[in-house]
Amino acid sequence: MPKFDITTSIGVLGAGTMGQGIAQVAATAGHAVVLYDSSRTALENARSGLSAILQRQVDKKRMSQSSADGILGRINFAHDPYKFATCGLIIEAIVEDLAVKRNVYSQVESIVPPDCILASNTSSLPIAAIGASCDKPERMLGAHFFNPAPLMPLVEIIPGVATAADVVQATCRLIDRWGKTTVLAKDTPGFIVNRVARPFYGEALRLLEEGMADVATIDWAMKEIGGFRMGPFELMDFIGNDINYAVTETVFAAFFYDPRYRPSFTQKRLVEAGYLGRKTGRGHYDYRPGAENPAPRQDRPLGEQIFKRILAMLINEAADAVFWQIGSPEDIDQAMIKGVNYPKGLLQWADEIGLKTVLGQLEGLQKEYGEDRYRPSPLLRRKVRKGETFLSHG
Ligand SMILES: NC(=O)c1ccc[n+]([C@@H]2O[C@H](COP(=O)([O-])OP(=O)(O)OC[C@H]3O[C@@H](n4cnc5c(N)ncnc54)[C@H](O)[C@@H]3O)[C@@H](O)[C@H]2O)c1
Repeated sequence: MPKFDITTSIGVLGAGTMGQGIAQVAATAGHAVVLYDSSRTALENARSGLSAILQRQVDKKRMSQSSADGILGRINFAHDPYKFATCGLIIEAIVEDLAVKRNVYSQVESIVPPDCILASNTSSLPIAAIGASCDKPERMLGAHFFNPAPLMPLVEIIPGVATAADVVQATCRLIDRWGKTTVLAKDTPGFIVNRVARPFYGEALRLLEEGMADVATIDWAMKEIGGFRMGPFELMDFIGNDINYAVTETVFAAFFYDPRYRPSFTQKRLVEAGYLGRKTGRGHYDYRPGAENPAPRQDRPLGEQIFKRILAMLINEAADAVFWQIGSPEDIDQAMIKGVNYPKGLLQWADEIGLKTVLGQLEGLQKEYGEDRYRPSPLLRRKVRKGETFLSHG
């Protein structure tokens, strides 16, 4: 019998937004699932929420009634953590607070079988720091799903300092079997996606602050010329400016205040004013009934300039993530396509545009502003010097 047998039941710790989605994914893959939360209300909401989601699938004829009943029937909504006693894998998705997580891990570890893997869905906490609260940190790792978990195919797998290699392999194998795409990421702030995506928001805010274009025009350029599904400002309003700003601030601090990740005053003021986005009716745009938003200036040369500058910054971030071995070039490209719906992998894009062109743009910006924010990744320079591409195009 393999040491880590996760064909058994799966435990999900925390029945909020992410826990519900992950429980649905595991139950859809045929596992018995124990979905535990310390709040009875959260459990009731999870049960009614999942039931409604599955019923909608049945109504739209995307799923049979018996499949929907089977999925819901495989989930045990538990208020007793001792139900985890037979689980082969626990995926934790509770509040993003290191002290609370560490406390919960030490409790759960005394309940689960000795070979049970413990995975955290944390977006921003170090896996090493969560693992350090475990008696057996070698069985703990990060498994970062994206919201909504049943729809988003990407899962970042993050080994901590102490994680055993067979724990990583067993977790990747299992989650791949669930139809997800797993990528390996180093235990560094933002892992792959939340690090590499920073300039999509940060550079767009910067262009706005410089007065190069308004919100609608920048969004138009990124969608119309870049092929992104949503513009940066629409996306910030959708995610919530409070959440998006908090991620930027966390990443900035965690990188010892590297100016490349500096947050924006414009977004900070929106948060302070309660303009959080769609959820409060106002953000970069006005969502109140009858509100009118300015139309974009559909100026193609301006749009090209906006798109090229944001893309160059994204490519630089992806190149630097390869340089620092945060992930492989292939995994970094997959992560951005499958985790945040980018129309193309950034490194593939760089290869197509030509690395010399991208480097030239960054050097131009660095010269213009004299800021470290625009420093080109050493890997980009090295590849240009050697005439190499990021990916092999065989
Ligand atoms: N929401 C997202 O878009 C998203 C995406 C990826 C990762 N994450 C991460 O997933 C985790 C959960 O996020 P969420 O948005 O689902 O949060 P949420 O607030 O919707 O749910 C958290 C749940 O945990 C429960 N909980 C809190 N403390 C507990 C404890 N000690 N024991 C048992 N249950 C407890 C709460 O009752 C709540 O139901 C966080 O680490 C977050 O960073 C969130």
